[in-house]
Amino acid sequence: MNLLVSRQTRPLSGRVKVPGDKSIGHRAVIFGALASGHSNVFGLSGGEDNLRTVSALRSLGVHIRPIESGIQIDGVGIAGFKPARSEIDCGNSGTTIRLLSGLLAPCGFATVLDGDQYLRRRPMGRIGKPLEQMGATIAGAAGKKPGEIYAPLTITGGNLHGITYISEVASAQVKTAILLAALAADGETSITEPLRSRDHSERMLSALGAPLQVDGTTVRVRPASWDRKLARFELRVPGDFSSAAFLLAAATLVEGSDVTVEAVGINPTRTGFVDVLEKMGANISVENRRDENGEPIADLRARAAPLSSIDIAGELSLRAIDELPLIAAVAACANGDIRIRDAAELRVKESDRVAATATMLRSFGAECEEHDDGLTIHGGTPLVAGVVPSHGDHRIAMAGAILALRAEGNSTIEDTANIATSFPNFVELLRTLGASLQSS
Ligand code: S3P
Repeated sequence: MNLLVSRQTRPLSGRVKVPGDKSIGHRAVIFGALASGHSNVFGLSGGEDNLRTVSALRSLGVHIRPIESGIQIDGVGIAGFKPARSEIDCGNSGTTIRLLSGLLAPCGFATVLDGDQYLRRRPMGRIGKPLEQMGATIAGAAGKKPGEIYAPLTITGGNLHGITYISEVASAQVKTAILLAALAADGETSITEPLRSRDHSERMLSALGAPLQVDGTTVRVRPASWDRKLARFELRVPGDFSSAAFLLAAATLVEGSDVTVEAVGINPTRTGFVDVLEKMGANISVENRRDENGEPIADLRARAAPLSSIDIAGELSLRAIDELPLIAAVAACANGDIRIRDAAELRVKESDRVAATATMLRSFGAECEEHDDGLTIHGGTPLVAGVVPSHGDHRIAMAGAILALRAEGNSTIEDTANIATSFPNFVELLRTLGASLQSS
């Protein structure tokens, strides 16, 4: 499937809602399965990644049924999972495979977790190593990098003990996999990250009564004296900030635009994109701020504005990690040089996003240089219609489509089916706002 996108000459305008937050959705389904009793989750994204987690849990014997505007999960607790009849297909979803690895680490049976051709290229040693230290056995396939393991993974659960773990990468997937295993381990577990990654798991687990303590970049789990069952819950999943970002970027780039995305999660560990754009001169306002289930949410309004240069590094890169390809696209329309650093993790996402972003930008005639850990974009070059390879990566495809709104002529974004993993109504919502793009 391809996307055809024309230069946008009319302003974009309107108020829309985006699908539920993907990160929160995965956690809600998994924690619901660990809870005692029925949990109701409303507004779960219909994106394929979240649905992979739902079907994975069903294959482990968890009953999940549709209810009005949501799903109901029958919690079985840590001891309640049953062996799956066959291997579990995690599709394109890194969060599904890594979180399930932690969930299955204390279960006394073996499970095979596999994924699509893109997921099979992503490193899994980062969860294999700590989970093995805790007492599970994680076997994986060999691949590109010697010593690394890749999907398919075989997780053989066992009796776990607590560990003190210093992670080399700031990764919420790694942190959450360890936390899930730690809930069933004997003794305390602590995980320290180089920088604080997104903290949805900590917020949700604490709210459900798990014995968690956060101290800077360290999270501790004290298993003593709790019954290993999380409290049942009702949760409304906030709109996905990472999806909203594409619409806010489009409004910023198309002259005269005024777009509001309602009820978006604005957890500060996720909102680096807004901070970056504001520093570049964008006109983004945060309206109607409120809290739901321990997560801050708001309506985000973006109006078109000219943009200038910025350096992005350290914590800001981490807080904007999934939006960096989009920021690079926006940067191509700014005045001056934009440098993105400390983002080596981009190389092991759904694609090598440093290389894929550089190719995407160059398809439109934009100028940029690749670095090991990021990119420099020389903004302000006139953009021409491009034919953009997305490398099967949803965020590259969507970032390319947004930049195409500013390129002279009609652009084609190739291989865009994976947009459905995170933002199934991306095209429809952009059209609602007045953009002319179509699938072919
Ligand atoms: C996610 C964590 C991040 C992020 C991914 C979702 C999560 O990955 O890039 O899109 O839900 O925990 P890493 O943990 O690999 O940094």
